[in-house]
Amino acid sequence: MRFVPLDKLINLHDGYTCTFKIDHHQLLLLQRDGQRYLVDAVCPHREHPLDAALVSGGVIQCAAHHYRFSLADGRLLENTEEPCGGLRIWELVYEGNEIGVVIDDQSI
Ligand code: FES
Repeated sequence: MRFVPLDKLINLHDGYTCTFKIDHHQLLLLQRDGQRYLVDAVCPHREHPLDAALVSGGVIQCAAHHYRFSLADGRLLENTEEPCGGLRIWELVYEGNEIGVVIDDQSI
């Protein structure tokens, strides 16, 4: 397990959207309405990038086919075609003035 810093806290603000590639993971860090989220950067439906997704009220809506996922637990809330699995939600970790994620090297 290792802490991987993503950004300095001072850089985060509402509207913040940034993608990161860590090992084979593509992650998307967002801040909306003072809430920070770290999720997989691609949609579990057909892997459309989520950096242009609509985020509001704790829900992320993919721009491709408008599937909606809960940002609390990643579950699929609404789909317009066949259902898919949930969106992976990552736990954010704070260390000093940085925000990051803990990567489990065993899962690589
Ligand atoms: S790829 Fe995201 S909803 Fe289809």
